[in-house]
Amino acid sequence: MQVRDKVCVVTGGGSGIGRALCLRFAAEGARAVVVVDRNAEGAAAVAAEIGSGAVARGVDVGVEGEVTALLTGIENELGPVDVLCNNAGIASGGDPLHTPLDEWERQWQVNLMAHVYAIRAVLPGMLARGEGHIQYTASMAGILTSHGNLPYAVTKHAVVGLAEWMSITYHDKGVRSYLLAPLGVRTPMLGAQADSEWGRSAAGPIAEPEDVAQQVIDAFAEERFLVLTNPVAQDWMAFKTSDLEKWLAGMRKLQARIESAGA
Ligand SMILES: NC(=O)c1ccc[n+]([C@@H]2O[C@H](COP(=O)([O-])OP(=O)(O)OC[C@H]3O[C@@H](n4cnc5c(N)ncnc54)[C@H](O)[C@@H]3O)[C@@H](O)[C@H]2O)c1
Repeated sequence: MQVRDKVCVVTGGGSGIGRALCLRFAAEGARAVVVVDRNAEGAAAVAAEIGSGAVARGVDVGVEGEVTALLTGIENELGPVDVLCNNAGIASGGDPLHTPLDEWERQWQVNLMAHVYAIRAVLPGMLARGEGHIQYTASMAGILTSHGNLPYAVTKHAVVGLAEWMSITYHDKGVRSYLLAPLGVRTPMLGAQADSEWGRSAAGPIAEPEDVAQQVIDAFAEERFLVLTNPVAQDWMAFKTSDLEKWLAGMRKLQARIESAGA
């Protein structure tokens, strides 16, 4: 699949990976790039950077009614959504004793249910046309789990489960699924953590958002499900599945190192 002439919607498009995807889709000749972000100013700035063919929408994707209205409006205005990138995400929270339940709920809504709301809006049309492309931004934290932020790790696992299920069920009906599972990426979300013990040891090699956009474009071209930001992620996945007990022991050692470094 090439994004040339396609209508592309990117959530979390106002910053980081989403911004890089929007710019790259425009450079590839997308017919329309819809930059969606709760930060309406950030979305507008990216749309302005692209210029013609881009529109900005200030939407909270954790609210079902806003997502449905957004996608219905886009389809009426610009035509069917060909490429949907469910990319917006948040990473607040901590351990089970210090994460308020409303923080869990918010992560659940933004990191997982936002994907479900968007799927419910675009999937009927994609199935009727026999074609559609849905990209899910999870994280390696959703495959290998992570250190520190429990709601993030749990909700990202849910995204991986959703994307795999969608691929199994709808790929042969024309709706392709793409799972982006980055290690660390230099964005505002990662911020100064890149220089912490966690960043150095657990986040893996830090990628640039533009390189991640290239990796997504490559996966689209091959209609390949899994998008990793560094080959070492594949090795870590193989280690986990080959010897779970040994892998957990190694993760515990790393956890102790991160705790003693205070980050
Ligand atoms: N940066 C990393 O190291 C890294 C690693 C793995 C996965 N990810 C994932 O990549 C995705 C993009 O993150 P990023 O690193 O570019 O971060 P970022 O903070 O630079 O960008 C995220 C964007 O999403 C928007 N957003 C947040 N909540 C929203 C909501 N409810 N509705 C609409 N927009 C919302 C923010 O305003 C922001 O513009 C996230 O899903 C994140 O979990 C990032």
